[in-house]
Amino acid sequence: LRGGRASRSSQAVAAYRAMLERPSTPGGDAGAQARMTRGMRPAGGEKLREHLVVRTRFFDGQVLAAIAAGITQVVILGAGYDDRPLRFAAPRVRFFELDQASTQAGKRRRLQRIGGDLGSIALVAADFRTDDAARALASAGHDASAASLFVCEGLLVYLDEAANVTLLRQLRDCAAPASRLAASLAIHPDGEDSEQVKASANAIRRNAASEPWLTILPASGQRELVARAGWEILEEGPQLRGMLCVVAGPA
Ligand SMILES: C[S@@+](CC[C@H](N)C(=O)[O-])C[C@H]1O[C@@H](n2cnc3c(N)ncnc32)[C@H](O)[C@@H]1O
Repeated sequence: LRGGRASRSSQAVAAYRAMLERPSTPGGDAGAQARMTRGMRPAGGEKLREHLVVRTRFFDGQVLAAIAAGITQVVILGAGYDDRPLRFAAPRVRFFELDQASTQAGKRRRLQRIGGDLGSIALVAADFRTDDAARALASAGHDASAASLFVCEGLLVYLDEAANVTLLRQLRDCAAPASRLAASLAIHPDGEDSEQVKASANAIRRNAASEPWLTILPASGQRELVARAGWEILEEGPQLRGMLCVVAGPA
């Protein structure tokens, strides 16, 4: 994110997500996303909306599956205005949310305004281009010896390839054996030029100047990047026009 403002793209996706029918845990707050995003402008593009429906279902399912499997740490990278710590609140489960300081400050204000329980959420300011995510997590009380679910939804496209590998390696460094990484990856058809694909995509994006897309690869390139960072893909989720979702475990 350039310019020190709260992320606009995270507001647009969260405001759109507030319009979707979604599950919640018995003690969770199913209305939190709508209250948190009051006044925000929802994402408007048809393709993005289609992606959001599919990827929201995928990531909601991953969080619920992790909680059902006994994982007690859910780490959301580039969390923006994600409501999952409130929607999926569960006994003994701690949520860690990492994002840039400006977005975290806006998120904290909104959570306080809607009376969100900040006790079970660690809001951590980190810039993945310069900060070590594992170190930031440790200082927020993350236990690297216990399994975690790491969620990278709509994030990795905003980091360049080197920063993608660095971040995923840092997560690998604090991932106990039963941990899982759930990530959405931006892809393009084989044979197309990645630089041209990015340039054409950014040319028509509303927030491209402040939040450019930096990593779009063929699916094989994304799989190779995940492997290079020390993760083994265990399952591939939905893949549709430009997006592949994966679940990985520590290699
Ligand atoms: C499209 S939003 C997605 C937000 C959230 N994951 C969701 O799906 O609702 C991308 C998020 O990544 C964050 N982000 C982008 N670059 C980042 C960086 N270098 N360090 C930390 N967070 C970053 C933005 O601030 C923003 O909240």
